[in-house]
Amino acid sequence: MKEITIIKPDDLHIHLRQGDAMVFYAKESANQFKRGIVMPNTVPPVTSVETVLEYKNSILNIVPEFEPLMTFKILPKTDPMDIPKLKKIGVIAGKYYPAGATTNSEDGISEWKIMRPVLKAMEDSEMVLSIHGEKPESFIMDREKDFLPIVKEMNREFPKLKIILEHVSSRDGVEFVKSMPENIVATVTLHHLLSTVEDVINNSANKCMPIPKLKEDRDSIREAVFSGDKKFFFGSDSAPHPKADKECLKAKAGVFTSPVLLPKLAELFENNSCLDRLEAFVSKLGADFYKIPYNEEKITIYKKDMVVPNEVYGVIPYLAGETISWSL
Ligand code: NCD
Ligand code: ZN
Repeated sequence: MKEITIIKPDDLHIHLRQGDAMVFYAKESANQFKRGIVMPNTVPPVTSVETVLEYKNSILNIVPEFEPLMTFKILPKTDPMDIPKLKKIGVIAGKYYPAGATTNSEDGISEWKIMRPVLKAMEDSEMVLSIHGEKPESFIMDREKDFLPIVKEMNREFPKLKIILEHVSSRDGVEFVKSMPENIVATVTLHHLLSTVEDVINNSANKCMPIPKLKEDRDSIREAVFSGDKKFFFGSDSAPHPKADKECLKAKAGVFTSPVLLPKLAELFENNSCLDRLEAFVSKLGADFYKIPYNEEKITIYKKDMVVPNEVYGVIPYLAGETISWSL
């Protein structure tokens, strides 16, 4: 049987949620990933030293072998004086959600310029700015493209600030990141490497923000990743919602990709003749950007069929019912 062994990866954008369900989601992630950049859009959000430590401990109680890399959500009231304190307890990034752009972002930022003092403090503390890069007022397919000038302005004002355009979804986004200095990078999800808007129209389980776009957008993301460009690294954005919240008229945005991530990535990279680049994409490039050491643990993925279940913990997983030619 064919198999590949790689450094146990990092998931550099993951929603572990909270409460009882978090037990399943955290175990699912720890199974495939050594570390994860844990997103702060819980309810209430993760915003302070106290809430970061509480959330981190609740994750470690479930999966002590997993290393949660903590983030905080930037709110209009975030105090720049808190940034060094957050940095001191190991917070690795601050997340900027434009208000109303995605799930649990109503308390986000409406006008980016109000964050200036916070961004300055983050630049000084060498804390990464993680951005949900969509302009909520724009047409849904143009939201990422229309947001890019904001990143450009931020980079002009805070040239040393490291910025991640999370879950890049468009050709414009890819071209923009390529054109910017080396501290401007992007995370890439499995679903934006695979889906187009057609998949979202046909199946509300695939609905997520940013919306997967046209084939040419997907091709552009693929080209950036498969070429090994070090500015594009893996962050799943796996975002589980209970089945009832997806199979309804107003389906929530978020795709639960965790159960299929490494097998499907292996299949995709193999089909595109670049399996040798998978390890850098999931285990090295992100660590290089965040300046954290590579993990020592390894993981093996096998060329062996896996049938994706129709439901996992009350959630419809991505690619439900399909067969993947690799498994763990
Ligand atoms: C995410 C969620 O459900 O928390 N949803 C999504 O569509 N991606 C939030 C996010 O990362 O945008
Ligand atoms: Zn996300």
